[in-house]
Amino acid sequence: MDNNEKFLIQRKTRLRYQWLRFKTGFCGLFTNWIKALIAVTYILFVVLFWQFKESIIYINNEDIFGAANKITVELAFPIIFIALFAALIIFLGTPFGAKEINERLLRTGLVNHAGETPLLIQKSYDKSNCVTTMEFESNGIPLCDWENNKENIETILNVYIDEIKQGKRRNRIILNTVSGDIQIPWAVDWKDEYLRNKDFEIILGRGLLKDISVDLNKIPHILIGGSTGSGKSFLLKHLLLQCFKKGAEVHIADFKGGVDFYRKWREKCTFIMDKTKLLEDLENLINELERRKKILTETSCSNIKVYNGLFLYAGLKRIIFACDEVAELLDKTGLSKEDKELISQIENKISIIARQGRAFGIHLILATQRPDANILPGQIRNNIDYRVCGRADTVLSQIILDNTKAADEIPKHTQGRFITHDGQIFQGYMYDEASL
Ligand SMILES: Nc1ncnc2c1ncn2[C@@H]1O[C@H](COP(=O)(O)OP(=O)(O)OP(=O)(O)O)[C@@H](O)[C@H]1O
Ligand SMILES: [Mg+2]
Repeated sequence: MDNNEKFLIQRKTRLRYQWLRFKTGFCGLFTNWIKALIAVTYILFVVLFWQFKESIIYINNEDIFGAANKITVELAFPIIFIALFAALIIFLGTPFGAKEINERLLRTGLVNHAGETPLLIQKSYDKSNCVTTMEFESNGIPLCDWENNKENIETILNVYIDEIKQGKRRNRIILNTVSGDIQIPWAVDWKDEYLRNKDFEIILGRGLLKDISVDLNKIPHILIGGSTGSGKSFLLKHLLLQCFKKGAEVHIADFKGGVDFYRKWREKCTFIMDKTKLLEDLENLINELERRKKILTETSCSNIKVYNGLFLYAGLKRIIFACDEVAELLDKTGLSKEDKELISQIENKISIIARQGRAFGIHLILATQRPDANILPGQIRNNIDYRVCGRADTVLSQIILDNTKAADEIPKHTQGRFITHDGQIFQGYMYDEASL
């Protein structure tokens, strides 16, 4: 496309933008009382002016110039008033700072092949949650380009983008943003009243605007990654604490000597520190899975949530299998043949839970520093849809999240700060283990 063609397209777009602003402004008259009041005031002013035009503008009807003058006034003023009214509607339909925002987007390189940026057509602020919603006419720029440019847009507009989504029409993009001056707190205290009532939703931590939570009915398993000291065990235990308080049966496999787990964990949960015992426990879980399969088939229930909804007093408990530092468990390097066989069997059982556990209410929460392909087999990793990563290097971030965002966005030396696979940053809660 040469410059001339680009110029013609840009001119057409400018005209289209005026039309869009006019339409938005006109619709705004019926939804925004301030805009309606401005328009009504203008119309009143015009009516009054018209009523008293002869005393405001002196028109001498006596001579021929006076008559011509009168005709000019009668013809020109309505045209001027209509043009001014259209300009007023366009003005009312233009979001505050639209030009500036469009120019800033140009600097991020978010442009189409004609070099045009998206056009901001609506902007509104919700006081209750401090969210500014911006609606753009995407100008042919697809949603994926917005997502890929998220960090650039955030920086140039000094906002955090909470959500980027398609509007009601395919060519509309909506950004929900929060001021860049707002920060996620570095320490947040947990209170039991924060526990979600919903079956079976657990809170990961405090995000920018709200708590980040996971519904295990939809996303059954969670993988937590991060370098040493990033807060994996702390987060894992917080999730288990919530599961326990919501009535789940918790199984913990720990091969770091159990130092991270306070006495009460061993008393109240199934606590395993031996690999042979772990295999037995996993076999029991698989048997339970098969038993639940039969129960759900016989009662024609598609999953544990439906079943528990029907049989309130004979409901099935959720079972959570957690392993802190799963790499320690599944690493076969330097092991004897028998031990390798034992690990393969453990791996196989965990894979079955990863593949089939959701409907039967058996969930995995695994934490690790190095979930490389050799240690965390594809069967397990690919079935864990929800992945979070604390501070990490690019390799670890890539392995856990399939991108380098943990390395890019989680500052070094932070503890308890994580990012989810879909880019939400949160701070894990501080809690008292003694409340278990
Ligand atoms: N959400 C949090 N808020 C504040 N501090 C935290 C948080 N989570 C963890 N920490 C601090 O970080 C320390 C290390 O956390 P944790 O033991 O969970 O790290 P880790 O990633 O499991 O390390 P390792 O890989 O060595 O086991 C904790 O002792 C705690 O002081
Ligand atoms: Mg740990």
